[in-house]
Amino acid sequence: MKTIIANWKMNVGSRESVALARGVLLALKGKKQLPDVVVCPPHVALGEVRKIVARSHAALGAQNVFWEETGAFTGETSTRMLAELGVSHVILGHSERRRLFGETDEAVGKKIVAALSAGLVPIVCVGESSTDNAREFVATQLRGALKGLHLRHKERILVAYEPVWAIGTGVAAQPADAVSMHAFIRSLVADLLPGVKASQVSILYGGSVDGANAYAFLREDEVDGLLVGGASVKLSEFGKILEAAVSVLEARAA
Ligand code: 13P
Repeated sequence: MKTIIANWKMNVGSRESVALARGVLLALKGKKQLPDVVVCPPHVALGEVRKIVARSHAALGAQNVFWEETGAFTGETSTRMLAELGVSHVILGHSERRRLFGETDEAVGKKIVAALSAGLVPIVCVGESSTDNAREFVATQLRGALKGLHLRHKERILVAYEPVWAIGTGVAAQPADAVSMHAFIRSLVADLLPGVKASQVSILYGGSVDGANAYAFLREDEVDGLLVGGASVKLSEFGKILEAAVSVLEARAA
């Protein structure tokens, strides 16, 4: 299976989110082989977007969450609140949150535990900047975030490999480099989560994905899907990414 996730970041309000969600559903219409699709609007638009995607093929994701269930945490949102809004996925540890809001691996770890216990699927973002040793850096992030975690039978986790230097720059990773990093992440996650089944872990690529390069990533078995930023708020571009996923899936089904 392939999973395509749209991270709309803080780029659209409720009205535009609703229009985008409608466009995504339209783009999926009539296709026989569909990727899993998750749209992640800003928190304020979740309620409206839910009405559009309810009973559709697309799932609803949030861009962040806090780990406490309730209490005096002004401005924060809990996993239960998201679940109540029909949210099924949540992006955690995005590099923008790490860089701008001081999110640490430990904080990401607490959010993963909270998300799983509320029945949400965590989308854990990792990725190095241009000055880091990529494998070492990503390994440290994963060790920190997954420490002590035990995935139960039906729980799933998505890891999004998003090299910081590729985010919003127009310079995507080479698919071959992403493949090698994904293989590394997959074996590290298997080591960190003993007993975890392959079907419980998906590894997505993110960073300057667009309609022109999506297919080159998606045709790789190591790439379980894509986490898309800028191109996800342009319907024509996102439509091409969905098309790329559909053609990979159709070719496999043939
Ligand atoms: P871009 O697709 O704009 O590079 O952003 C990637 C990203 O940060 C998705 O979470």
